[in-house]
Amino acid sequence: MKHKKVRVLSKKIFNGKYVELFFENRFDSIPQPGQFVHIFTGGAFMRRPLSIAGYSPEKIRIVFQIKGPGTKKLAELSNGTKIDILGPLGNSFPGIEKQQKIYLVAGGIGIAPILFVADKFIQSGNDFKILYGARTKNDLLDFLLPEGNYKKIISTDDGSAGEKATVIEILTKEILKEKPDIIFSAGPFAMLKSLGLLCAKENIDAYVSLENVMFCGLGVCQGCVVETTLGYQRVCKDGPVFHNRLIKWK
Ligand SMILES: Cc1cc2nc3c(=O)[nH]c(=O)nc-3n(C[C@H](O)[C@H](O)[C@H](O)COP(=O)(O)OP(=O)(O)OC[C@H]3O[C@@H](n4cnc5c(N)ncnc54)[C@H](O)[C@@H]3O)c2cc1C
Ligand code: FES
Repeated sequence: MKHKKVRVLSKKIFNGKYVELFFENRFDSIPQPGQFVHIFTGGAFMRRPLSIAGYSPEKIRIVFQIKGPGTKKLAELSNGTKIDILGPLGNSFPGIEKQQKIYLVAGGIGIAPILFVADKFIQSGNDFKILYGARTKNDLLDFLLPEGNYKKIISTDDGSAGEKATVIEILTKEILKEKPDIIFSAGPFAMLKSLGLLCAKENIDAYVSLENVMFCGLGVCQGCVVETTLGYQRVCKDGPVFHNRLIKWK
């Protein structure tokens, strides 16, 4: 895997803590939803993993929350600056048949990889329903979702937008109304764990994208492992997307 220096093309900051950034596409392969880039953020900082949130032949989209020094540095980059990236890395969400009932379930900044999944399904003509929960109205990035004829259910923890509920409470209600064939999900670990356990109980196939802290990002250091029924697996190389029944939720 070669690292590449790519130019930042544009950037928008929302509510002071969320960033949508496009950089030039110099990938050697076509990225797939679920894959990520490992970005060198400068100075003494290690690379930071960020999901690919969208793709065109000209540019790559990432969407991230400013959390600590690495993401803060990225948010400060101006157009034209060159950044050092590795990617596309990791596996991806699986392809699926057209007639399947699909739910996309995103919690918080977990919306980033789900934006790319939604783009793909719109292009391929798959019907889907999206369930998206965040803490408050100011943490929702639903305006970044693609236009399309799909059902969208928004929830917030404090009720400032959409239903006052967690996305898992919404999912539980929706499953009672109509059981999906497959779920693709991304978000905080606690949310993914609840979703994984719920889907195991309801016998629904679910694929989750994990966000373990990473070091090398290339499968070498074993620093990002998750315990699965196949033993310890590397989130950066064997994942980040795993079937829910594979993971030993703790
Ligand atoms: C495969 C993958 C894809 C990801 N995609 C996205 C994305 O699209 N958008 C996005 O906003 N974030 C994403 N993350 C999380 C992102 O990598 C971290 O938020 C980022 O590395 C934090 O770096 P920092 O220097 O800003 O903060 P740090 O100083 O490193 O950390 C600040 C805080 O964030 C926590 N943190 C650090 N790393 C992670 C992590 N990997 N996951 C969750 N919390 C972390 C720390 O515990 C600390 O509390 C992804 C992580 C992985 C592994
Ligand atoms: S981060 Fe090194 S093996 Fe995954």
